[in-house]
Amino acid sequence: MVKISPSVLACDFSVFGAEIEKVVSAGAEYIHLDVMDGRFVPNISFGIPVVQAARKVTSAVLDVHLMITEPEKYIDQFASAGADIITFHYEATNNHDEIIDKIHSLGKLAGMSVKPGTPTFVLEPFMHKLDLVLIMTVEPGFGGQKLIPETIDKVAQVKTMCEQMGIEPEIQVDGGVTAENSGVLKNAGANVIVAGSSVFKAADPAKAVAALKE
Ligand code: DX5
Ligand code: ZN
Repeated sequence: MVKISPSVLACDFSVFGAEIEKVVSAGAEYIHLDVMDGRFVPNISFGIPVVQAARKVTSAVLDVHLMITEPEKYIDQFASAGADIITFHYEATNNHDEIIDKIHSLGKLAGMSVKPGTPTFVLEPFMHKLDLVLIMTVEPGFGGQKLIPETIDKVAQVKTMCEQMGIEPEIQVDGGVTAENSGVLKNAGANVIVAGSSVFKAADPAKAVAALKE
């Protein structure tokens, strides 16, 4: 069964707690928190205090997506803030093994993400110890973009790699996911769907979550 992880980037931050409760009661399993530093991506979103605030209002899984350079410097703080899954970018560091081990030593789940232009083979050396692989389906940095169709094949590639290795990390997709394209992503092997605009901006979020799962 596919899980839905609504990205709060698309929420109304003036009523942050209520927005989280809204999507959890709509059937979302995870809450996706997009942390951007204005260096790894050309945009700034939010950081540790917002993860802490989310932790206060929900027991749903906090799925933290770090779009920051030198993620190794901040793993401790995001873990103490209440993150359950910490996903960092392959392109953001040279210390992949160290970061994964650090996340695990703090009792959290570790994810690694690749941008649309990064080939999936770079993931291979780390895959056996990852809990989640995130295939970006847009260029990271902004919500509300259109999915890049070429990324769909990368999901299938990761699925095949997992089958060959006999492992089952979660395979997450993020960016431009709608009820129209979620089917093809699931068929390719995705089992966690991040959706910002299509859930938070929906008139009926429960319908939107159900449509993404269908
Ligand atoms: C992009 C972020 C995504 C994005 C998803 O950098 O990682 O999580 O906010 O938003 P939508 O679903 O609106 O594309
Ligand atoms: Zn994200």
